[in-house]
Amino acid sequence: MRKYYIAGNWKMHKTVSESVTLAKSLVSELGSCGERVMIAPAFTALAAVAEVVKGTSIILGAQNMGPDLQGAHTGEISPLMLKDIGVKAVILGHSERRHSYGESDALINKKVLLALAQALEPILCVGETLEEREGGKLESVVGTQLREGLKGVAATVLDKVTIAYEPVWAIGTGKTATPEDADAVHAYIRTVLAGLYSEAAAKSMCIQYGGSVKAENAAELMAKPNIDGALVGGAALKVETFGPIAQFRS
Ligand code: PGA
Repeated sequence: MRKYYIAGNWKMHKTVSESVTLAKSLVSELGSCGERVMIAPAFTALAAVAEVVKGTSIILGAQNMGPDLQGAHTGEISPLMLKDIGVKAVILGHSERRHSYGESDALINKKVLLALAQALEPILCVGETLEEREGGKLESVVGTQLREGLKGVAATVLDKVTIAYEPVWAIGTGKTATPEDADAVHAYIRTVLAGLYSEAAAKSMCIQYGGSVKAENAAELMAKPNIDGALVGGAALKVETFGPIAQFRS
C-alpha cells in the first residue's frame, strides 16, 4: 500500500521543553502510524527533540538551513550541524523564506544541492500568491520554482526529494485549495517533472500539499491521485490536531 508523507512544520513556535512535550506525545500517539511522519521544530529544540524521536519511526526535520558547509556566515546553520544532531530532512524554499526573507530560486537551489550532497532529504516548497493565481501566472511561477529549484539535481537522487505545493494564499489563512484545484496543480507539477526527468520519475515522486491542512480536510485531499502527503503548519502544533491528520486513514 502506498505510504503518505505527513510533515509538521512548527515554525517559530515552542520552547525546548514545549517541543519535547509535543514530540513525546507524538511518539506515543503515532508509534504505529502507517505513514511517513516528519516533524520540524525550531533550531533551538532540534537536539532535544532528536533524543525523543531516536529509534522511533518519526523523522526529524529542520525548517531551513544555510547554503554553505561552514565559514563566516553569521546566524546561519550548516547541514553538517543538522546531521550532527540527527536531522534527516530539511524544508527548503518555504514561502515565508521566499517572501519574508527574499530567498531566490538560485539560493534555494544551492541549498537543495547542498542538502542532497550531505544526505539530508529536502522538501522543496513551491506555490503561487493570490495575485499570481488571479493574474493567470500559476503555471509559470510554479514551473519556474521547480525548474530552478531542481537545477543540477541528478535523476539518481530524485527519490530523496519531496515537492510541497503550498499556495501562498492558503498558508495560515484557513483557506484551503479545493482538493480538485490542488490535485490539478499537483498534476501540472508532475508534467514539469516528466519534462525535466522522465514520466516514471514524475510518477514516483512524492508531492505534498500544504496550506491550512486539518483533520477535517486531510482525507479528502489525500484521496486525490496526485496528492501524496501534507505539509502542515498550524495544525502541527498540537497532538490533538496533528495526530488525526497523520492517521487520516484510520
Ligand atoms: P498552515 O501552514 O498549515 O498553517 O497553513 C502550512 C505551511 O506553511 O507549511
